Amino acid sequence: MLEIRGLRKTFGAGKVALDGVSFAVPAGQMFGFVGANGAGKTTTMRIVMKVLTADEGEVLWNGRPLTFTERRTFGYMPEERGLYQKMRVGEQIDYFGRLHGMDAAAVVKAREALVERLGLAARVGDAVESLSLGNQQRVQLAVALIHDPELLILDEPFSGLDPIAVDALAEVLHERARGGVPVIFSSHQLELVERLCDAVGIVSAGRMVASGTVDELRDAEARRLRVVVRDAKPGWADGLAGELSKDGDRDVLTVAGGDDQAVLRKAAEAGHVEFFGVERPTLVEIFREAVA
Ligand SMILES: Nc1ncnc2c1ncn2[C@@H]1O[C@H](COP(=O)(O)OP(=O)(O)O)[C@@H](O)[C@H]1O
Ligand SMILES: [Mg+2]
Repeated sequence: MLEIRGLRKTFGAGKVALDGVSFAVPAGQMFGFVGANGAGKTTTMRIVMKVLTADEGEVLWNGRPLTFTERRTFGYMPEERGLYQKMRVGEQIDYFGRLHGMDAAAVVKAREALVERLGLAARVGDAVESLSLGNQQRVQLAVALIHDPELLILDEPFSGLDPIAVDALAEVLHERARGGVPVIFSSHQLELVERLCDAVGIVSAGRMVASGTVDELRDAEARRLRVVVRDAKPGWADGLAGELSKDGDRDVLTVAGGDDQAVLRKAAEAGHVEFFGVERPTLVEIFREAVA
C-alpha cells in the first residue's frame, strides 16, 4: 500500500504546485490520478520517485516512510519519455533491467516474456526511433516492467495512443493489478479513467478535491432524475425544478431531488414517456463539479 500524505511543493518565487495532496493506493488497485494540465500530477509522481523533494508531507510504503531500496522496486514511466532513440528495442529493455540490478540471465528471461506480452517480439532488433508512437510507448512500459515492480507509477501512459494501443496497455496494467501491484497512472482523459480504474483521485490547482472508488464518488453525489418525453405539450415542465432541454421531438428533463412521482404524473400527462429513471453522475460530471 502506498500512502501520500500532505504533500506541499513550491517552485521558485512562490509558485505553489502542490498545496496538500494526500491519497492512498492499496495492493491490487488501479488508481487514476486525474486533473487538468498544471494541476500537480507530474509533480506528485516525481516526489514519490524522489526526482523532486517535497517541502512538506510524506510518502509511506506499507505504513513506513518509503526507502531508497523499496523505491528501486517500483516501476516508473516518467512524463519526459526516457528512451534512447538510437538503441535497439531489446538492448534498451535489457539496459534498464541491468540498471535495476538484475543479472543477465534474469534480464533475458523477463525481456522475452515482456516483448511477447506487449506484441513487440518482431521489433526487438529495431532502433527505437523507427517505431510508431504506440510501439515506443509499449517499449516504455516494458522498461517500467522489466524488474517485476512492486508498484507501478505511470505519468500519462495513454496520451497520444490509438484505442487499440490503449486497450493493449490497459490489459497489461490490469494484469499487474490483479497480481497485487498498486497501479497509479495520471490522465486527463476522464472517460478512460472511469472505464479502467477502481479508484480515482482528482487534483485541482495542487489540492485533492476528491478521492475514492469510482462507485463511492458516484454515490456521494446527489442522484438525479432523468425524464424523456416525446411530443410533449409545450410548457408541461413549467413549475418543476429542473433543467429542460430539447433533443429533436423529445424533451429531456433533469431534476435533482423533489417528488419523483409528481414529475412522472406531469410527464405522462404531457406526452409519451420514453424514459424515466434515477441516474448517478458520471466521473466527468463529478470532475466538473469538483474543479468548478
Ligand atoms: N520545475 C518547475 N518549475 C516551476 N514550476 C513548475 C515546475 N514543475 C512544475 N511546475 C508548475 O507546477 C504546477 C504543476 O505542474 P505539474 O505537476 O506538471 O502538473 P500536471 O502534471 O498535472 O500537468 C504547474 O503550474 C507547473 O507550471
Ligand atoms: Mg503532467
